[in-house]
Parts: sequence; structure tokens; C-alpha cells
Amino acid sequence: MISKCVVVPRSKGETIRKKLSDEDLLRKDLRIMSSETDIFIPISVDPDNEPELCFPITEMDFEEVELAKGYRELADVPDQFKDLLPSSFDIIGDICIIKLADELQPYSRNIGEAILKANSNLKVVTLDGGVKGEFRTRDISIIAGERRTTTIHKEFGLRLEMDIASVYFSPRLSGERRRVADLVENDEIILDMFAGVGPFSIMIARDKKAKEIHDIDINPDAIVYLEKNIMLNKVENVSHYLGDARSVICGLPNADRIIMNLPHSSLDFLGTGLDMLQPGGIIHLYLITENEELEDISVKITEMAESFGHPVKIGAKKMVHTYSPTSGLYVFDLISTL
Ligand SMILES: C[S@@+](CC[C@H](N)C(=O)[O-])C[C@H]1O[C@@H](n2cnc3c(N)ncnc32)[C@H](O)[C@@H]1O
Repeated sequence: MISKCVVVPRSKGETIRKKLSDEDLLRKDLRIMSSETDIFIPISVDPDNEPELCFPITEMDFEEVELAKGYRELADVPDQFKDLLPSSFDIIGDICIIKLADELQPYSRNIGEAILKANSNLKVVTLDGGVKGEFRTRDISIIAGERRTTTIHKEFGLRLEMDIASVYFSPRLSGERRRVADLVENDEIILDMFAGVGPFSIMIARDKKAKEIHDIDINPDAIVYLEKNIMLNKVENVSHYLGDARSVICGLPNADRIIMNLPHSSLDFLGTGLDMLQPGGIIHLYLITENEELEDISVKITEMAESFGHPVKIGAKKMVHTYSPTSGLYVFDLISTL
């Protein structure tokens, strides 16, 4: 994975690594690299506001660290089930979210304790029962550690507070949020139709000079945390609205850039999004689709847009992450050709 990194002489490597870790700049998900003379320490930084570190900053391709590996040796489960122990899990703030096969459920507490022992930065382990309902919230239960589901997640220097039991958030979209924020130009009007706790819009508000940013969500808890995150990150031009995007949108100005992250049903809202799009604007549409249907879906999207009277061409189209062995979460950048 490509990441910014600090190039430090070997003799100062550990001192600087510790300093970066203390300042929450160190990327613990990537493996530090070295040459004969230097250490390359991956960091998470705002590109327009790079920290002053007295050492050069560059970009390199880093190997991802399997954070989940260590616990597997510690977990006390019968030998015949060891292979079922997941090799990865999600981390939001200091909370681990893990999926376990049915055979492992009786050992969940034990597995949770092993995860805490292997990862000192984690304080809670939860079992993931899947994302459900209109609010797209996770059905979770605590299996080890502190009895809480609230946390503060750090991403590219942003602080996002949330209750993972009552709002949607996925750390797997961090690269996508960075990509979208990096595309924003001065004075854009931005609309996030399904904003959640605000990870897209708050990054844009902090890093870019957008004219207005409008966030909608139908989940009251998401709006509560969105408000907190606006204050926590001291950003100013994000307005927020509680309600169904289809009705809230009526009072808002047309946008240059629209974010539509409701991957199971975003096509149901495509007409509404296109009605709100400025000629020449762009929609970032997220969709879960079977891999083999990707080309058919692309054709369907352009045909739908045509039928709504707002033709588009598809720019970037790529998988954000796998969803199942045969499907993925994809992003389609729809560029208005009006
Ligand atoms: C997949 S989450 C995305 C959240 C956020 N964009 C993110 O990346 O973390 C979808 C969000 O859309 C909200 N939502 C679902 N239906 C909606 C609707 N009709 N109008 C507005 N928001 C809706 C849910 O409450 C949820 O927070």
C-alpha cells in the first residue's frame, strides 16, 4: 500500500518511531522498512498540512501488517477449530470487531481475551452479527474487555467519536475518503446524502476550501455524533440535516460533488442525486455488486442516468474492498455530461 513516510537515519529510528506513535502519526497497519542507512516509517498525515519533523517525507509502497495474527497462538480453542480463527478483524478506535464461525462461538470469550492480550491498544472486543436495517448498524455483542461500545477513531489525523452499536462506520473506507477529499477543488458545493458520523465531509472541510458542505442522515444518533465530530475537529462549513435524503434534499442548493455511500440501495436514490447535481458535477456512487456483473451494472447506471435526463460518463470505477468471495464494494465516479 502506498503511504507517506518519514526517512530517518538508522541511529535515530526508534526515537522518531516512538515520537510519531505518541503523536498518533505512526501507521501501525504498515510494516516499517529500512535500507543500509535509513529507516522508512509510514505515517498518516494531512497532505496539505504535513508536520514539521526535521526529516524528509516521501511516498513508498509498504507491506500491510496482519494485526490479527498474534492472537491465534494465544486463543485456547480445540485443535480442530484452530484453522477457523479469522486472520483479520476490523478495528474502530480501541474496539475490535470480529466475525466468528458458529463452531467458534462457544469459545468467543476466550478468543476475545486472546485478542486483548495480543493487542495492548485494544480495550473492547465485540462479535459482529452483521450490518442491518435502514440505519445500517452492526448487530454486536461484547465478548471481552470493557463494557462499552463508544470510542474515538483516528483517521488521517481526524478524530471521529461514535457508538459503534448505534451508527454505521467502516475503517475500510479510509483510503476512499482520502481519495475523494483529494479531488475536491476550491469553492465546491458538496453534498453527502448518507453522511453517517461525517468521515467524508469532515476530512473535506478540514483539508479543502469547499464553499458549502451539506450532510444528511436518517439516523438521529449519526447526526448527534456528526455534530460532536464537527466540534471535535473544529471544522466550520458543514451543515447537517436529519431525515430521508429524498425529502431533505428539496431545500438544498445543487452540488458540484455528491457522495452516495448506501451500497445496498444507492441505485434507488440515483434519480434524486442526479436532480441535485450541477452540470459538469460528479457523483461518487458506492455499490455492492457481483464481480462478474460489473460491466452490466456500468451500462445500467449510464442508461438510468440518461432516462433521468442527466447523462453521465463513468470516470474512475474500482473495487474498494471485497464483500464476499464473488462480490465487492465498488465505487463509480459519475461525471455529468450536461
Ligand atoms: C453505509 S452508511 C454510510 C455512512 C458514511 N457515509 C460513512 O462512510 O461512514 C449509510 C448511512 O445512510 C443512512 N441512511 C439510510 N437511508 C437513508 C435515507 N433514506 N436518507 C438519508 N440517510 C439514510 C444510514 O443511517 C447510514 O448512516
